[in-house]
Amino acid sequence: MKLWSGRFGKETDALVNRLNASIAFDARLYEEDIAGSIAHAQMLGACGIIAQKDADAIVKGLEEIRTDIRAGKVEFSEENEDIHMNIETLLTARIGEAGKRLHTARSRNDQVAVDFRMYVRGEIPVIVGQLAEFLTVLCHRAEEYKTAVMPGYTHLQRAQPVSFAQYLMAYAAMLCRDVTRLEDCQKRLNVCPLGSGALAGTTYPIDRFMTARALDFDGPMGNSLDGVSDRDYALELLSCLCVLMMHLSRLAEEVILWCSWEFKFVELDDAYATGSSIMPQKKNPDVAELVRGKTGRVYGDLMGLLTAMKGLPLAYNKDMQEDKEPVFDAVDTVELCVPVFSAMVETMKVLPDNMRRAAGRGFINATDCADYLTRKGMPFRDAYTVVGKLVAGCARQGRTLEELTLPELTSVSPLFEEDVYEALKLETCMEQRKSYGGPATGEIARQIAETERFAAARRK
Ligand code: ARG
Repeated sequence: MKLWSGRFGKETDALVNRLNASIAFDARLYEEDIAGSIAHAQMLGACGIIAQKDADAIVKGLEEIRTDIRAGKVEFSEENEDIHMNIETLLTARIGEAGKRLHTARSRNDQVAVDFRMYVRGEIPVIVGQLAEFLTVLCHRAEEYKTAVMPGYTHLQRAQPVSFAQYLMAYAAMLCRDVTRLEDCQKRLNVCPLGSGALAGTTYPIDRFMTARALDFDGPMGNSLDGVSDRDYALELLSCLCVLMMHLSRLAEEVILWCSWEFKFVELDDAYATGSSIMPQKKNPDVAELVRGKTGRVYGDLMGLLTAMKGLPLAYNKDMQEDKEPVFDAVDTVELCVPVFSAMVETMKVLPDNMRRAAGRGFINATDCADYLTRKGMPFRDAYTVVGKLVAGCARQGRTLEELTLPELTSVSPLFEEDVYEALKLETCMEQRKSYGGPATGEIARQIAETERFAAARRK
């Protein structure tokens, strides 16, 4: 029999039960649900709303149920709809009368709101910890390749020299923002909806500050209608995870390109690559491709919940039961992708000679050549034109700028001297880019040091 069967004259249709029940997925919230119920029962006892001995019996009963669930000894039923009614039913079956007093001054609406908030609050540090590990990996790999010159691209066309370290640290910068975004979401979500009741608070003399404190919230939410209706924190988490996945998928795309024979900048470790069932030569970057693919799925999770919430009148509507699966899915996806991706980057073999070779073609020192002339007094715009002509000539003849002889160079500008060859060396071009944030090794060392400090403060 259902806890709410009082005003009903018929059994619920079996298909309606299936549609209505959320226990298949919200069973995952049992820890939060029990913690919330314990705090509520203790408050009811302390405020004299129920007898202290009943409160004690409820707390003891809930703790025993928790032990049994943890040990896998409890089977939930679809008949009892969701985790809240399953646990309440179990409690009353175990402790009798007192169990029926737990739901005084409470509704499943504020109950689920507090459970879900605590769930999100608990997952954020897990993801932040994983990102901190990944940041450490990026710093280590960057440290190894501080002087490894590679072509930097715009429009996927070779543009200017950077180092592999700078590339990695660019991704590290994105992940640092993902961390602070999650931490920001964490700060804002930490207010307690418990005590909002079904929507309109309660006539009982409850102490919302007490339950908020007991559950480690900064305080109670200020409006009971908002308390049961707000899912912003779930949407914020999903938004953070979407941006994080977007970052991973960009790096995934790079790794996929870098693994190709066309680039061959990296080779994945055998443990982080897969083969083909027909082509014996294949070693595929499936990890990177799956992360790229799963990004779409996490975006879908955000869109699903945004759309479910759109147009909902206050306060609780059953549509909101649809909040859990997308959040669970996105959290599971991210918590699987981040450590695997991190391990893939940690173990991949970097091929700096191939990077250097690629950097040697495509005139990525053309800007530096123009800068050379500018340093010798020519206005940059003129220098740009002179070098453009040199590049066009070289491209026709299949040569590079540094292969031109001094007479060939001076024939276009008398400002060229012997020291141009040093200026055109890619190592010089990279190392001279000492501007704040640039690829010069000193600048990268600063970025690595700052990022390592950031990550160390957050590693588990
Ligand atoms: N299982 C429900 C959910 O996840 C709990 C709240 C039910 N409230 C209600 N008024 N039916 O949203």
